[in-house]
Amino acid sequence: MHRCDACGACLMRSILSFGDIKRGEFHAMLDNAKQLKSAIKSGRHLRILEGRVVGLLFEKPSTRTRTSFETAVIRLGGSPIYMAESELQLTRGELVKDTARVLGGYLDAIVARVHTHDTVVQLAEWSGKPVINGLSDLEHPTQLVSDMLTIYEIKKRIKGLNIVYVGDGDNVANSLLLAAATVGANATIACPRGYEPNADIMLKAMKIADKTGSVISVINNPEKAAVDADVLYTDVWVSMGEESERKKRMNAFKGFQINSKLLSLAKKDAVVMHCLPAHRGLEITDEVIESKQSIVWQQAENKLYGAAAVLDFAINGKLKVRQ
Ligand code: CP
Ligand code: NVA
Repeated sequence: MHRCDACGACLMRSILSFGDIKRGEFHAMLDNAKQLKSAIKSGRHLRILEGRVVGLLFEKPSTRTRTSFETAVIRLGGSPIYMAESELQLTRGELVKDTARVLGGYLDAIVARVHTHDTVVQLAEWSGKPVINGLSDLEHPTQLVSDMLTIYEIKKRIKGLNIVYVGDGDNVANSLLLAAATVGANATIACPRGYEPNADIMLKAMKIADKTGSVISVINNPEKAAVDADVLYTDVWVSMGEESERKKRMNAFKGFQINSKLLSLAKKDAVVMHCLPAHRGLEITDEVIESKQSIVWQQAENKLYGAAAVLDFAINGKLKVRQ
């Protein structure tokens, strides 16, 4: 955490893990996201990031995260600069810490999508500017900010809900555990043996859960997990960077699919979420993703408002709800 160059007063914060956001801060961020959503939708000219330049350093493809963050910066009055890894000297051996120090001299914040989590850690350490993790191999925290907004919009509450994630214990699952624990929702991860979420993150989530009253569990039986679910959530079986394991994963994840049968075990008013991109016929069926219970398009749209609230929090240190 450090003071910003512009005013020397507000606190700038990196968000590398969902665990970097405290409970009270997250509720303020959600309130801010709701207000920013209504302001952006009504076409209001916002100046929250006026004069700010935000770099988007992406080492992996992205449709939603890149576009929602770029759009959010523009809607809030700032200027985004997209930097594909392939066009940076990083690919020719320049160190992350050297890149970070240079970019920190130009930019007000960096949104980074990286192969290895350590890269966002180094960017934050060396740039001197807030760094937002736009997906690493370990976490996808901003995804869960907008997902929690979506759940809140639909269910009007989050605390005490049963969120059941079916599939790979990957970056999205890791951030989901921390997010659910933070807001006091119960999280069950149903995954094949050997594909559990990160052990340190599970421990961290359980520690947070002790304080918020949420129940965190990991099981290997999707049918058992789906019973009484308020939210059924899934993600791809093969994440970016794991393409060489495709064949092995296709076998391992058979049965870990959100389909009508699994959905019928959940509560009658259960909703289905997917961070997208989706692979119909693998982790989710076409029938379910196109069904009335699927909220994936609202979930995807909310990435814009989640991004806006995250940027306001990281760059302006906004903890209070903006009037
Ligand atoms: N959900 C998500 O992060 O999508 P993208 O990979 O398209 O950014
Ligand atoms: N787990 C997926 C998420 C994509 C948004 C991946 O890392 O590819």
